[in-house]
Amino acid sequence: MERIVIRGGTRLRGAVAASGAKNAALPIMAASLLAEGPCRLSNVPELRDVRTMATLLESLGVRVAGGAGAQLVLDASAATGHRAAYDLVRTMRASVLVLGPLLARFGEAQVSLPGGCAIGARPINLHLKGLDKLGAEITIDEGYVCARSRRLRGARIYLDLPSVTGTMNLMMAASLARGITLIENAACEPEVAELGAVLNDMGACIEGAGTDHIRIEGVQWLGAVDHSVMPDRIETGTFLVAGAITGGDVTVRGCRPAHLEAVIEKLIEAGAEIQMDADAVRILGSDRVRAADVKTGGYPAFATDMQAQFMALMAIAEGTSVMAETIFENRFMHVAELRRMGADIRVQGNSAVVRGVKRLSGAPVMATDLRASASLILGGLAAEGRTTVSRIYHIDRGYEQIEKKLSALGAQIWREKDPGGV
Ligand code: EPU
Repeated sequence: MERIVIRGGTRLRGAVAASGAKNAALPIMAASLLAEGPCRLSNVPELRDVRTMATLLESLGVRVAGGAGAQLVLDASAATGHRAAYDLVRTMRASVLVLGPLLARFGEAQVSLPGGCAIGARPINLHLKGLDKLGAEITIDEGYVCARSRRLRGARIYLDLPSVTGTMNLMMAASLARGITLIENAACEPEVAELGAVLNDMGACIEGAGTDHIRIEGVQWLGAVDHSVMPDRIETGTFLVAGAITGGDVTVRGCRPAHLEAVIEKLIEAGAEIQMDADAVRILGSDRVRAADVKTGGYPAFATDMQAQFMALMAIAEGTSVMAETIFENRFMHVAELRRMGADIRVQGNSAVVRGVKRLSGAPVMATDLRASASLILGGLAAEGRTTVSRIYHIDRGYEQIEKKLSALGAQIWREKDPGGV
């Protein structure tokens, strides 16, 4: 087991390149199951979740080959498997993204139920309800979702909540269904739009992906595609907070600032100066961070995946801020750890009240989930003294070489063996 050690107090300066987006790469990889031909992906981030998805696809008979420069070739031409085993699904909830494609392509899918996780119960009832509407016969057997159907048929599906992976699963399934599917109250995240574009390049007929109303005309067959994965907006946002929290001057290159409007607005409200063009954003942090309230929501609102990182910034702001979490019921696991660093945060229902303190102090802390670990690293960058973040396997799920990227910006941060690691 490894841990990350940070000696805080350095103002970060310089430029860093955005990596490919985890939450775009995973569904696109799952979509390769639909294609009778190789899918060549570039700008694929080197992450634990990406490796898990590759292993899962291999277990389903997909030929997976790596390439130089973050490339991945996935060929499901000869795939026959249809069972996604518990051992893989339990380590990564996004495994559920193979359900729609398997069912659409092979008429059968068995996918282990993912179970709860640190940030909430996270059921998949909306995925199942939608697939049922498309004509699948669904049972739960020994912890597995077993879905069967001859050819799926188009339907009108209203999602009670705009679930991101739910929208993606249904979009993939409907691509090969007979007739027209309408998904209403769909998730509008840029990653959904990107998946729609990739499916269309494979031969699908999808309109409106990235809006709350998606129309899909099913086709008989999908084929090969070449695609470069979009930059990761959450990683970009995390680096911007790193600039703000250290009063530094950080530029993220190769990103899409347009995907980060709500976060950028809040950083400005918090006192930072932002300069941007189409594919780069620079943050100049101020010496006096100001309190700014945040309410998370589906895109284009402030992303729940940025809540923990922004809370670390608010922990040293002048004044009191309220962070309202509306997407997940238990996404405040980082609060107890930030408090160990001297933060003054109280959780009341789905809100956290953050009273800014002058400075945080370094402490040993423990990561509980992916974005919580990012928040603790950010806290450590601003804190006086030494912070050690253990259980960093969480961070390796979703951030590519975060300590190397931060140390290139001047941070004193390194990875080492965790003597007390469990
Ligand atoms: N929900 C249901 N039933 C469902 C599906 C969702 O009640 O069938 C609820 C969830 O419990 C949650 C809300 O709806 O309260 C929204 O969940 P959603 O389905 O949108 O989340 P997800 O698709 O499981 C994706 C990202 C998450 C991100 C959320 C919200 C991927 C692989 N994961 O999860 O990313 O937080 O959308 O934007 O795209 C992360 O990267 O750290 C991460 C957790």
